[in-house]
Amino acid sequence: MASPRATARQPPLSGALRERYKDLAAKAAAEMLEDGMRVGLGTGTTVAHLLPAIAERELRGMRYASTSPRTEQAALKLGLKIEDLDQMGGLDIAIDGADQIDPSAWLVKGGGGALTREKIVASAAEVFVVIASEDKSVSQLSPPVPLELIRFGVRCTLAKLADARLRDAVESPDGGLIADYVGAVGDPRELSARLSATPGVIDHGLFGPEMVSVILIAGAHGVQRRAGGKPVG
Ligand code: 5RP
Repeated sequence: MASPRATARQPPLSGALRERYKDLAAKAAAEMLEDGMRVGLGTGTTVAHLLPAIAERELRGMRYASTSPRTEQAALKLGLKIEDLDQMGGLDIAIDGADQIDPSAWLVKGGGGALTREKIVASAAEVFVVIASEDKSVSQLSPPVPLELIRFGVRCTLAKLADARLRDAVESPDGGLIADYVGAVGDPRELSARLSATPGVIDHGLFGPEMVSVILIAGAHGVQRRAGGKPVG
């Protein structure tokens, strides 16, 4: 049976084709990098294509920040040295995947549970680039929307949210509990404000267009570049 999310998306892609599209988008994003840049690296299977694409470019004087231990380990294996975000004095660019992208550049992120760090890194960057296969493009965002919750009083927080479920034994690297909001999304700005205003919610996976500079979506016709709501340069 198709999931509710699948009904809002493009037709499902075969696994191999999806990986090929992720790779195309990742390579296009790697081409945006220049020597000496400070780069934020996202988390997920699309970013897993990005890391070797960056390493292959053999850029000089690069500095990298990571959004997760998983990305950090993979980057280190490729010779991309990760630094503490706070020691970098900001980022020139951050590149990350997304679970859903709507026509106005609202995103749902956090399928991999790294949403809070991903949002911090994206907002620390002058330019935030989203990379995705075309099946991530949806006409309307739908649940689940990932959440990171404070452990203290988590049952009270879940009760306040009403339509939220804890993911079994999933904790962020910062000790937060990962959950999913499973109610209707409706207007993402209204839901974003409601989730942010709920005590116990550390952050949520709705990213507004004002955070997004460029979206690179790869599909049968190559890589399509869409503008977000954050100007480049
Ligand atoms: C991880 C994320 C990912 O960017 C998002 O889940 C997309 O993942 P993938 O590239 O594996 O499809 O937000 O927390």
